[in-house]
Amino acid sequence: MSYGHFDDKKREYIITKPDTPLPWINYIGCEEYFGIISNTAGGYSFYRDARLRRLTRYRYNNAPFDFGGRYIYIRDNSSRIFWSPSWQPTRHDAENYSCRQGMGYSIISSTFKSIRAETLYFVPLGENLEIWQLSITNQSKKTRQLSVFSSIEFCLWDAQDDATNFQRNFNTGQVEIEDGVIYHKTEYRERRDHFAYFACSEKLAGYDTQRDVFLGAYRGWNAPIAVERGRSFNSVAHGWAPIGSHHVKLNLKAGETRIITFVLGYQENPKDKKFDPPDSQTINKQTVRPLIKKYLNPITVRTAFDSLRSYWEKVLGIYQVQTPNKHTDRMVNIWNAYQCMATFNISRSASFYESGIGRGLGFRDSNQDLLGFVHMVPERARERIIDLASTQLETGGAYHQYQPLTKRGNNDIGSDFNDDPLWLIIGVAAYLKETGDWSILDTPVPYDNKSGSEKPLYEHLERSLKYTLDRLGPHGLPLIGRADWNDCLNLNCFSDTPGQSFQTTTNKEGKVAESVFIAGMFVFAARELADIAEQRGLNTEADSYCQAAEQMDNTVRVHGWDGEWFLRAYDDFGNKVGSKECKEGKIFIEPQGFCVLAGIGLKDELAKKALDSVYKILATPHGIMLHQPAFSQYYLNLGEISSYPPGYKENSGIFCHNNPWIIIAETMAGNGDRAFDYYLRINPSAREKIGKLHRCEPYVYAQMIAGKDAPAHGEAKNSWLTGTAAWNYFAITQYILGIRPTYKGLMIAPVIPSEWEGFSVNRIFQGVQYNVTVKREGKGNKIELIIDGIRHQGNIIPKPPFGVTQVAVQVLLS
Ligand code: GLC
Ligand code: GLC
Repeated sequence: MSYGHFDDKKREYIITKPDTPLPWINYIGCEEYFGIISNTAGGYSFYRDARLRRLTRYRYNNAPFDFGGRYIYIRDNSSRIFWSPSWQPTRHDAENYSCRQGMGYSIISSTFKSIRAETLYFVPLGENLEIWQLSITNQSKKTRQLSVFSSIEFCLWDAQDDATNFQRNFNTGQVEIEDGVIYHKTEYRERRDHFAYFACSEKLAGYDTQRDVFLGAYRGWNAPIAVERGRSFNSVAHGWAPIGSHHVKLNLKAGETRIITFVLGYQENPKDKKFDPPDSQTINKQTVRPLIKKYLNPITVRTAFDSLRSYWEKVLGIYQVQTPNKHTDRMVNIWNAYQCMATFNISRSASFYESGIGRGLGFRDSNQDLLGFVHMVPERARERIIDLASTQLETGGAYHQYQPLTKRGNNDIGSDFNDDPLWLIIGVAAYLKETGDWSILDTPVPYDNKSGSEKPLYEHLERSLKYTLDRLGPHGLPLIGRADWNDCLNLNCFSDTPGQSFQTTTNKEGKVAESVFIAGMFVFAARELADIAEQRGLNTEADSYCQAAEQMDNTVRVHGWDGEWFLRAYDDFGNKVGSKECKEGKIFIEPQGFCVLAGIGLKDELAKKALDSVYKILATPHGIMLHQPAFSQYYLNLGEISSYPPGYKENSGIFCHNNPWIIIAETMAGNGDRAFDYYLRINPSAREKIGKLHRCEPYVYAQMIAGKDAPAHGEAKNSWLTGTAAWNYFAITQYILGIRPTYKGLMIAPVIPSEWEGFSVNRIFQGVQYNVTVKREGKGNKIELIIDGIRHQGNIIPKPPFGVTQVAVQVLLS
């Protein structure tokens, strides 16, 4: 069953059936104002923080799944038939339905009764507003009298409160209507200095701002009474549920097209200029009127849309590849990079699976996201690094999450996820390699946002490493704390009461349970920090980090090796986790990936054995599972991991996030064929043909695909916001294709499938465009570089002399 197809030239996915297995969404906005939009116009918008500044309302876990959005209705005033050109909410059988999900925009179109409607939704760069531009064409032979209604439901800013506190909220709603613009001002009278506005380019026949007047009692969004009768009520919301709806009447001649623009935006006023006149309670609109006027002009809209397209052209132009495999090209050149921007911006906060209320920015997650994002907008990566490091604690530990709006660590979940601090080193190293901006290391950064506690960023990295060394367990391996990368391996929790948090309910001292995964990560991070120190001429420090890495490497060999693979952990009793001695959960993916990535066992048989075990036991046609055998029951000493039924999530699901660790490890072991095979198994474009089973969007990665123990083996869930995006991008671009930024220059180290004849890449790195052509001359991974016609030793292209902006590199692979 096909639900659509890729248009790589336009960088779009064109959905041609509205009833996709799940809502297939897109993000509009890539700076401070964001919207989620599904293929049937569902979704909502927020400014910076999906919980604290939510503009429009959305109801999660609804039936139908996706309901509430940016809905437009069209009514034929003669026949009184009305429909929605985005299919939802009226679900009429329109012809030629399509939703084009593009880079920061969505275009939803359909034709009904010879009326063609096409709506472009996007957020102009640099603005805190979104445009809906509806172009409506009469394809019939006679003049048509039409009504167009817009609709949105305002959220009362704090999404948590909005969804729960009705005894208050049914009394607080307020709006103003001026010149056809609807202003939503709930709580503006007291402590808020922000409001929302919803404007329309046409002369209005009417408007509505009170939901239940617009819909009518006992009616839903599929048949609002105002639309049905063809006339708004001009309702003014006071309390209850404020909405925004404009009514425009149109006479469309045969063949005529009209454009109607709607603008929905967020605006803040200076605290002392909130009201106009100052002694009134009326919103001061002087700050926003010019902006509204500007964007109601179709020419401005066109220019803004063109700028958005050029922006993406430029951002994606930094890494463009041509390989023999279209799924690779499409993901690398377009969608995987695009998804990396989304995960960078939204972290794990707001998708159709993340409610925008729970998690803010994760320390671990956001550091990893940098791996896929840093080359696109390095200035923003820098800012993020400083924000993250500012939440670090003086112990070197880190808050697990922080709220993007306040940038403060989240006390509910706290710290003690013992892998967290190490991710900072990995994130910063990626930034330094990409940008060469060493000044960031000297930037003063506070601990826990306390002023006066500022220390150079470099010291934060040192403390991150020390944090692990200060917390070693009985075998000399790192103590795990609440959990490591696997949030659900809770070895110190022993939770036996429903509703308790698996992560924060701790009733063990935490002095016994150790993580081999963190050990691998430590070796990796210590070597990164050693390289950084060396670059700065701090040789003593560099040596000590190398020694620490060496020592941990040994400890892993002695206490972290199970014979055929790396162990996962020791539990609170000192028993092995992820060992052949275990009844269930004998082998885990994480340490096989990260230990090899850190270089452990590459010089002898260990790495190879571990990877072969993964291949034999964990690999499925749909990707590599987290562990095997799945846990068939709940284990008090293991925690949340065993709470999921077998095959789902952390209990033996295919966590796409750590598949790339194995992919990278395979390239390090020189196995291009196996690495690429794994890569394709979870590549969403390659899975498009099994869309009915996969169910999630074919253009972005999902966090999880159900493992072989699940009835729905192969079904994806939780698309978009996952570390999968960054790690897969990192794996394919830097390890399989092997174009890797280093401190000395751009490294070329492809480990590609043996049957590929070659590929070419354009990579802009530190202001220089490298045109790299790789040609296979033999089956192996041996490299010979010819730079601008001259043979070159080694596999790193040195930085060209100042002023040179183009370098041609021929690579012979044998
Ligand atoms: C989720 C979390 C991530 C964690 C992973 C495994 O994706 O966002 O931080 O590492 O689950 O539990
Ligand atoms: C749950 C999920 C895990 C996620 C965590 C975030 O434990 O299974 O994937 O990382 O919640 O708190």
